[in-house]
Amino acid sequence: MAALVIASRNEHKVEEIRKLLAGLAVNVLSLRDFPDAPEIEEDGATFQDNALKKARVIARFTGLATLADDSGLEVESLGGKPGVRSARFAGESASDAENNRKLLRCMADVPSQERRAQFRCVIALVSPKGAEQLVEGICPGVIIEEERGSGGFGYDPLFLVPHLGKTFAELSMEEKNRISHRGKALQRVLPIVREWLEQGLI
Ligand code: IMP
Repeated sequence: MAALVIASRNEHKVEEIRKLLAGLAVNVLSLRDFPDAPEIEEDGATFQDNALKKARVIARFTGLATLADDSGLEVESLGGKPGVRSARFAGESASDAENNRKLLRCMADVPSQERRAQFRCVIALVSPKGAEQLVEGICPGVIIEEERGSGGFGYDPLFLVPHLGKTFAELSMEEKNRISHRGKALQRVLPIVREWLEQGLI
């Protein structure tokens, strides 16, 4: 059967993608199946750079079509920060709590009507047979002034979805996946995977 590698060791992410691709004749593998795969430094200037770099390196290493994603939070009043540095906003090995505290500190003087933000996710699909595609998903929201909710991860407790009146941390996983940046990007990648299977690129 055709195989697609998800360039991630995060089993939660891999499971989500597996579920989405369940109806297709493709064997979904992850980096757990390739313990010797190289570590990839996410040092690009954009989400696109990082997603493409990961997908290219792993496609070359495995000889198989590869899907890689990169995502983060962009805050309008901070000129798009933390952006590609979302995971390391408060320092190289910062915890979610430290990143959230830094975000609130940076936005202490920003009034409520100017606290717009968005999560962005870019997915790169690379075939060693010589094809590359990028798709993107965006979820708009607002950064609130104190954490709400206990689900999710990262900046979820500070990210309010205005039309739901709830933060990402107050949504079930299914509710979040339906509207999230990653959920949207994954929906967009699905028809491309189907097309590539038909064309023998996967
Ligand atoms: P990754 O590219 O999925 O590893 O995400 C990079 C960083 O962006 C994470 O460590 C989080 O800080 C932030 N991030 C990305 N997606 C989400 C999300 O859905 N909720 C909260 N934080 C996120």
